[in-house]
Amino acid sequence: MGASPDNSGMKTLFAALALGASVVSAAPADPIVPGRDYHSYADVSAFRVKHLDLDVEASFADKRLSGVADLTVTRVAADATQLTLDTRDLGIRQVWWRKDAATLVPLRFQLGARDSMLGSPLHIEVPAEAGRPEFTVRISYQTRPQASGLQWVDAALTAGKTHPFLFTQSQAIHARSWIPLQDSPQVRLTYNATVHVPKDMRAVMSAQPLDDNNGALAADGVYRFEMPQAIPSYLIALGVGKLEFRATGPRTGVYAESSIVDAAAREFSETEQMIQVSEKLFGPYRWGRYDLLILPPSFPFGGMENPRLSFITPTVIAGDRSLTALIAHELAHSWSGNLVTNATWRDLWLNEGFTVYLQGRIMRAVYGDAREAMEETLDLATLRGELAELPPHDQVLAIDLRNRDPDDAFTQVPYIKGALFVSWLGSRFGVEPVDQFLHDYFDHFQFQSIATEQFRAYLEANLLPRKPGAVTARELDEWMLAPGLPKYAVLPHSDAFELVDSARRDWLAGKLPVSGLPAKQWTTHEWVHFVDGLPKQVPAAKLAELDAAYQLTATGNSEVAFSWLRVAIRNEYAPAWPRLDSYLTSIGRRKLIKPLYEDLMKTPAGAERARAIYARARANYHPIAVNTLDAIVR
Ligand code: BES
Ligand code: ZN
Repeated sequence: MGASPDNSGMKTLFAALALGASVVSAAPADPIVPGRDYHSYADVSAFRVKHLDLDVEASFADKRLSGVADLTVTRVAADATQLTLDTRDLGIRQVWWRKDAATLVPLRFQLGARDSMLGSPLHIEVPAEAGRPEFTVRISYQTRPQASGLQWVDAALTAGKTHPFLFTQSQAIHARSWIPLQDSPQVRLTYNATVHVPKDMRAVMSAQPLDDNNGALAADGVYRFEMPQAIPSYLIALGVGKLEFRATGPRTGVYAESSIVDAAAREFSETEQMIQVSEKLFGPYRWGRYDLLILPPSFPFGGMENPRLSFITPTVIAGDRSLTALIAHELAHSWSGNLVTNATWRDLWLNEGFTVYLQGRIMRAVYGDAREAMEETLDLATLRGELAELPPHDQVLAIDLRNRDPDDAFTQVPYIKGALFVSWLGSRFGVEPVDQFLHDYFDHFQFQSIATEQFRAYLEANLLPRKPGAVTARELDEWMLAPGLPKYAVLPHSDAFELVDSARRDWLAGKLPVSGLPAKQWTTHEWVHFVDGLPKQVPAAKLAELDAAYQLTATGNSEVAFSWLRVAIRNEYAPAWPRLDSYLTSIGRRKLIKPLYEDLMKTPAGAERARAIYARARANYHPIAVNTLDAIVR
């Protein structure tokens, strides 16, 4: 791993902070170098990839992408001769240097040993005469069926069940499993792509489609794209399926299979309104269109903020727009994350924490205070649950991920603790000044990738002077580098949930019949809070009574079902077993299935059930989910 920080001044300036970080770190004693990417083989002080020209064909029969990647590379160090790229499970056929428009010169290359976390470095010998400051290498390659960033979904597991589906998930370090490149969030590149797919299918990417075909399928199955803004590799994305499109506004729409496209368009019809709110608060939306791609249920995340085209789980199409915070979240990444990007995975909280904060600002404007208060309160409960289980070194915002797979360190800490940090700034400086500060921050660092320490320096120079003494350096240290939540954190509160709490209490105490619960007005949020707040043990009769009155086992709402199934597992409530089985075999969203498997594994009978279900479900889960679950279901 030869990556070195861009800015060596930062190194000394923040050595003290880094030392602070190592106090709560489990791993190596040597201090973290802020801004250094420990998850890439690339040496960004030698070369930097600045543009990708991709030409690949998707073969569903052998589950491979195959083609060429032309990389335009800047020589950063004049004497550099070895270009090292990241790959994982790629078959590299040939590498050339494009000497001029007509001449390809074969280059010597070598694929290094495979590391289970990082993959294999691809070392390419670059001739000293190769163009300065820039040159182009061509790599001919193909992916393997097990590529960690691709899921080849069988037709049977799609909405329409007639055509297969392919989608990529590049964050955090999976782009290297389908494109050879410098797979580091501090390397930004533009890209062009040509994608060949079966003639009755459509390809979409995190880029602008070049030939529109007036919305029709391309007769030759060839789709071309251009991404003119420089983005990190983890935002390069491709989806291929039997896709239709519905516009939901002048610059928004959804791509989905025909049987769900109308429901999706209805569910997400407020997207344009969300963009307008965001622009007012945080500056112009800089990416042109904003569309959504609805994926098969095996998508391992809720959403992924691929620029111009967020990838979305179908499990949020609840029918009542109650789970649209996910859209606000992925949209918000168009500022926090895609415009200003974490320089390393240690800095993920700059992406996710700020995004959860922005999401809250958007949701408050679109749906009002009461709903946002409920969502924040639910989030806090989830965070608290995790903090109770996580070792201290995993509770810090700027987390030490050296020698760890960033996928495994995925917790609510960068999200909810990160957002609480920004809200806390609001409590000290005022919400409006903080929004304005963020607006300026996005302008200042636009199209750059930054580390925690750069954010902190910007904060100290631009927000703190507005109200000297409002926050102390010690407090900032505690937020960014210490475990847990500072005791002065300002926590959300929901009045609506107080009513739910008292109704729950009365019902449990036998003072209120189940029919007397004020549940008629309850939305997803109240139900999740009600169910999550049930005691550890609830008598079977009580559960049955609740279930009979409100059809909780049968609910179509993926979040309510999730909460209910956790209660069912804890209490061995057998009537929920068939639903548990169908839930775990039809949904692959990691956040919704991982805790269920973990809960099951706590008892011998549950573990047996978990193993039996997992044996059937595993083949249909995404590689990222499999990687997580293999360590849980044993
Ligand atoms: N960018 C994330 C997903 C991600 C993070 C993938 C890190 C790989 C590594 C996405 O924006 C996200 O946070 N999704 C959440 C949404 C939720 C917080 C509203 C999810 O998938 O649950
Ligand atoms: Zn996110």
